[in-house]
Amino acid sequence: MNSDKLMSVARAIVARQKGVLAADESTPTIKKRFDPINVESTEENRRRYREILFTSEGIERYLGGIILFDETLRQTTQDGTPFAELLSNRGIIPGIKVDKGAKALALYPGEKITEGLDGLRERLSEYKQMGAKFAKWRAVININECDIPTSFAIHANAHGLARYAALCQELDIVPIVEPEVLMDGAHDIERCEVVTSRVLEEVFTELDAHRVLFEGMLLKPNMVIPGMKCERQADAQQIAEATIRCLMRYVPAAVPGIVFLSGGQNAEDATDNLNAMNAMGPHPWQVSFSYGRALQAPVLAAWKGQEGNVGAAQKIFLKRCRLNGLARDGKYTRAME
Ligand code: 13P
Repeated sequence: MNSDKLMSVARAIVARQKGVLAADESTPTIKKRFDPINVESTEENRRRYREILFTSEGIERYLGGIILFDETLRQTTQDGTPFAELLSNRGIIPGIKVDKGAKALALYPGEKITEGLDGLRERLSEYKQMGAKFAKWRAVININECDIPTSFAIHANAHGLARYAALCQELDIVPIVEPEVLMDGAHDIERCEVVTSRVLEEVFTELDAHRVLFEGMLLKPNMVIPGMKCERQADAQQIAEATIRCLMRYVPAAVPGIVFLSGGQNAEDATDNLNAMNAMGPHPWQVSFSYGRALQAPVLAAWKGQEGNVGAAQKIFLKRCRLNGLARDGKYTRAME
């Protein structure tokens, strides 16, 4: 393990103003994103869509890294340049999703476990040769009214994340560790904070036991936020205070960066919440973004699969990147929308 290399890549991904684009939707997930705009999920349409994102002018000022799906890492631009090479040449670090998805956890109804550890060392080695310098593994934690999540599901998922992170660092690949507490349901912000705290405590206990170098990883958590069906919603200040309080208690200061997922928040809210957290800073870690939907939903809506809309879609993408870059400094306002 080359600690210096891991630390420098991790820091570069969350350099000033910068965050991550999660463009690593699996084939079933990208179909869900294409369906509402009536774009067929063919290999070529998926390639073209990613090409539109990755060739947008100016995004390298705000994106330290982009997470790709296996298929995309093997694809090229129209003129034959591999996507990983295109991104590296633009100063954007290419990364790769390596988990094989969250599946039902046997004998624990309503809970999930992420698969993909078998053969992971070999897959990481191939991805590294193809230019990936960081990776992502997503664990999913559900909340219900009474007994979920169980301690067992939290432990099993934390253990999987730590096994993955250790395998990455063995090969000098920076692991993004993503324990996602879902926003689904009617739970309040207090319950989200309790569950997120239990999850983060367990994740860092497992990472430490697996000898993972905190300085050479990034954490991708959910924000502490009420469930989507909760009657008592929270404003950006309340979300920021609860989230930072929780992270301060459970995330070691040695971790260079926290890159939030958007988890179904709309684009403006995700930017506003990130901004509120940075306005409370400075914090021990960089506080940044690794958004999928909150960066891409407006782009898909503008593109609609039509070549004539590509310029407009790329402009909207750059705008979202720029506004999130401003939120990294606590300098965003809603009036900028
Ligand atoms: P969202 O921002 O859409 O939640 O996606 C981020 C991600 O990579 C989830 O794994």
